[in-house]
Amino acid sequence: MNVFDSDRMEDLMTAIGYETSETPEGADMVIINTCHIREKASEKLFSDLGRLRPFKDEKKEQGSQMIVAVAGCVAQAEGEEIFRRSNVVDIIVGPESYQTLPDLVGKVLRDKKKQINLEFTPNNKFDVLPESKAGTGASAFVTVQEGCDKFCTFCVVPYTRGAEYSRESHKIYEDALKLVERGVKEIYFLGQNVNAYHGLNEKGEVQDLAKLVRKIAEIPQVERIRYTTSHPRDMTPDLIQAHKEVSKLMPFLHLPIQSGSNNILKAMNRKHTRQDYFKVIEDLRKSSPDIGLSSDFIVGFPGETDQDFEDTLDLVRKVGFTQCYSFKYSPRPGTPAADAKIQVPESIKDERLKILQTLLSQQQTEFNQKFEGIVMPVMFEREAPKNKTANKQLWGKSPWLQSVIVNISNDEDAEKYFGQITNVKILKARPSSLVGELHN
Ligand code: 5AD
Ligand code: SF4
Repeated sequence: MNVFDSDRMEDLMTAIGYETSETPEGADMVIINTCHIREKASEKLFSDLGRLRPFKDEKKEQGSQMIVAVAGCVAQAEGEEIFRRSNVVDIIVGPESYQTLPDLVGKVLRDKKKQINLEFTPNNKFDVLPESKAGTGASAFVTVQEGCDKFCTFCVVPYTRGAEYSRESHKIYEDALKLVERGVKEIYFLGQNVNAYHGLNEKGEVQDLAKLVRKIAEIPQVERIRYTTSHPRDMTPDLIQAHKEVSKLMPFLHLPIQSGSNNILKAMNRKHTRQDYFKVIEDLRKSSPDIGLSSDFIVGFPGETDQDFEDTLDLVRKVGFTQCYSFKYSPRPGTPAADAKIQVPESIKDERLKILQTLLSQQQTEFNQKFEGIVMPVMFEREAPKNKTANKQLWGKSPWLQSVIVNISNDEDAEKYFGQITNVKILKARPSSLVGELHN
């Protein structure tokens, strides 16, 4: 979501004559788009601001000005406090009000005053965002929904991104049409609670995510559809059925459970049990037998006992995941769990994270190994960073969202492969990628 937002901020600024710069040196403006989900992500802001100071000073010495804007969820959560902690900052703008950036920049330049806008206006945001001028690759994110009403007790999202809001389905359809005209083949629906999507169509009828998937699948040039991030409670029977019926819907789902213990799920206010999760997985696998599953896990949530953690390991063993994200619980100010009396010591969190990650990476490796010798369709998106052998390499995505790397000869034009879905024979599975060769 932050990548999507950063791209939109770039669109907004290029529309008024700015262009992107690779370094902050000499820049007229620097935007730091921030994440507040865990403490580590938040802390980065102030060290980044410190690093900007010499560049800002240098610009001033040259008789010019570098405008520094802090955007994103840290801006939303900390507000004016950021001005107090760092006098480098000129603009503070939230994730639901960044469409006003050009206006705020104008005011800074004209009135020589710092600006802040933390309003929640998602409706207005999508109506005023300019059409992207930047080159679009083979895959494009399309925000369909923002915000969250679920209030898990550890999470800042409902506070920083606000209440759930779904965009109208015909506007999403129009976005997809424009994207395929520019060569996009994969539409990636985005939302903090994407499967809670309930946007209206032109007739004012409520559409859910399953209907939206089916509608976008009708566009002939769309070859792949994905969505993230989902909540187990919103996996409707029709959405599960769509995984069987809509061949363009990729056989991969990121479905966070957070913990395998019912006690912890309850304390997290997840409003589902591990049994509910097993049932959703069973139905999904009936519908799409080769579906790859991914999840998010938090270890060391307040009150998590050895047995609770064992339940998480047990759930992981029973489900079998293809790739997951796992985190140590990070108390976020203002969320209910941050005030809980029984916090788990950091050393235990470290230990549990290590055990969980070892199991998850074992599962990922085993999943990847199943593809050795198999031919699969890969969508190439760009060149892979040069490796030691200095071979030209293509980087693409498998249907199961694995990274696939293929060698091509150094004098071959890599670009002709970008945006193409090409058959690749997998030669070797690595822990987090597959290496293959073109298979014509
Ligand atoms: N501490 C640790 N992890 C968190 N996440 C969200 N809030 C916290 C927190 N306070 C994780 C969840 C979520 C993912 C995006 O980040 O697993 O699914
Ligand atoms: Fe946060 Fe997801 Fe829970 Fe919403 S459903 S509060 S975004 S973890």
